[in-house]
Amino acid sequence: MKYSKKTHTCGELARKDVGRVVTLMGWVHTRRDHGGLIFIDLRDRGGVTQVVFNPEVAAEAHRIAGESRSEFVIGVTGKVSARPENTANPNLPTGEIEVIATDASILSEAKTPPFMIEDESDVAETLRLKYRYLDLRRPSIQKVLITRHQITRMVRQFLDNHGFVDVETPFLTKSTPEGARDYLVPSRVNPGMFFALPQSPQLFKQILMVAGFERYYQIVKCFRDEDLRADRQPEFTQIDLEMSFIDQEEIMSLMEQLIAAVVKEVKGVEVPLPFTRLPYQQAMDRYGSDKPDTRFGLELKDVSDIAKASDFKVFAQAVELGGQVRGFAAPGMAGLSRKEIDDLTNEAKLFGAKGLAWIKVAEKGFESPIAKFFKDGQVAAMAERFGAKTGDLMLFIADSPKVVANTLGYLRLHIGKRLNLIDEKKLNFLWVTEFPLVEWNEEEQRWDAMHHPFTAPFDEDIARMESEPGAVRAKAYDMVLNGSEIGGGSIRIHRSDIQTRMFKLLNIAEEDARKKFGFLLEALEYGAPPHGGLAFGLDRLTAILTGSASIRDVIAFPKTQKAICLMTEAPSRVTAAQLRELSIKLDIVE
Ligand code: AMO
Ligand code: AMP
Repeated sequence: MKYSKKTHTCGELARKDVGRVVTLMGWVHTRRDHGGLIFIDLRDRGGVTQVVFNPEVAAEAHRIAGESRSEFVIGVTGKVSARPENTANPNLPTGEIEVIATDASILSEAKTPPFMIEDESDVAETLRLKYRYLDLRRPSIQKVLITRHQITRMVRQFLDNHGFVDVETPFLTKSTPEGARDYLVPSRVNPGMFFALPQSPQLFKQILMVAGFERYYQIVKCFRDEDLRADRQPEFTQIDLEMSFIDQEEIMSLMEQLIAAVVKEVKGVEVPLPFTRLPYQQAMDRYGSDKPDTRFGLELKDVSDIAKASDFKVFAQAVELGGQVRGFAAPGMAGLSRKEIDDLTNEAKLFGAKGLAWIKVAEKGFESPIAKFFKDGQVAAMAERFGAKTGDLMLFIADSPKVVANTLGYLRLHIGKRLNLIDEKKLNFLWVTEFPLVEWNEEEQRWDAMHHPFTAPFDEDIARMESEPGAVRAKAYDMVLNGSEIGGGSIRIHRSDIQTRMFKLLNIAEEDARKKFGFLLEALEYGAPPHGGLAFGLDRLTAILTGSASIRDVIAFPKTQKAICLMTEAPSRVTAAQLRELSIKLDIVE
């Protein structure tokens, strides 16, 4: 072929281009041999264009088309022509035209791909990840990654406009306290010593505040060796930032403007500001979750007062022991069979509940094995509180506040999905605020930081840090979108006396603290401005904004649930020589 340059993408030619001579290059999407004529749908990042090879127009090009197979890379020169009457394809942007080939060449041959390069594909994910370069050819995945690019471009532009400086922080570093296991990297020149890959740039960004940068950001990889789920990867990307001389309200306000700008850019939708602010306790009480999905109702209601006065021992005792009874009405679910209720009960038990009490609101009245334990009017009072109507199924959990919240939080979501109550088109943003500073760790019998040990307590709660630690609120905030935590942050402790009290509360010995993050503590003693920040999970944000089921779908080269890259087959064994160099001996029971 004489022409070596692409003149157009395969997605842009239209009726206005009829008559033009063009050169296209791309992959053979499909090839249809109609005896004399051969039709090739040629695909590149821009889209798909139909090319017609007519032996009477160009015999050589026709021969080349005949040799081409799916996923061959070819170049074609030809004339744009309007498609004959009744053959236009209204589903395709280029559907009104075709290119009549005059010249063609095969640029690269391809083996038969293990699956079709199509958007609607039910190919096993393992196969897709092994041949990720083929999977990534699918237009839908390319679109998602391009949206991801648009998000980061908008983030950079917004933060740049607001005086943030992009500073890189090291990957070979020390452990950061974000609560997951570290990925370790051995140091060859310091035998027996290890770097930790950062779980976040937390300590460095605070140090950048001490250093006087005032506003920092970075779009940065973080590494956490934790059990993987659909919304977790061992390496993931944060939009990480930190600001000096600001308060919680200022950060939250700027961050919601940032997210609104991103949503406007990629979805063209105006997000109403400010976002709802929901104190942690209310989120737990009303939704049983610190990241509530508010796209549907089914709010939880407390009936402890009524339950306490009933003769149902399970309920009365739970309240007496300091627990509570909460529940909600599942609309129209009174028709559930015993078997279906048993299934729900078993699921509830996975969250620690001892059982699941239920009352059906039937035409004839309330139906339930526990109805007999209630006095006149008590069941009706609970039904009223739940807003239960005829045909509804009232569900109750009696237990500690934690088990009640976990179980009902799950059931609410489960039933919301089951009844199709969730409007998938909605984007419900909110802030969860007033998190407790610390959380009691039952197993280890000690207080853990709810966010991390550098998070500042509410000023008015500082006096209670020793006497009533569980009641101290933190200047921490999470941004939640459709029931997913897409970002979180806090105002930091910038006074060393409070930091010392925090470590004491967490039972972290002074010496231990010095060993782990002495550099930060020392830095804080050299004039630390009041500061705070936040980090968004870019993968989660992108997944939700693109309607992707898993964050694996918005990461070019993701890992499986077992933290493996199927394409490169990492992690892998290394040679004995490499281990020797690192002074490492393996101790593996085969
Ligand atoms: P946090 O640990 O809450 O805060 O992380 C911030 C956000 O990162 C996302 N995220 C993840 N995404 C994918 N896979 C994971 N394994 C994963 N873990 C977290 C979440 C989360 O909201 N240094 C603090 C931030 C700060 O205080 O400024 C931090 O890392 O969307
Ligand atoms: P029982 O008296 O144990 O037979 O339980 C009667 C009903 O109450 C059953 O439907 C149980 O699933 C339910 N139940 C038992 N314990 C609890 C609990 N802690 N909270 C809610 N329901 C419970």
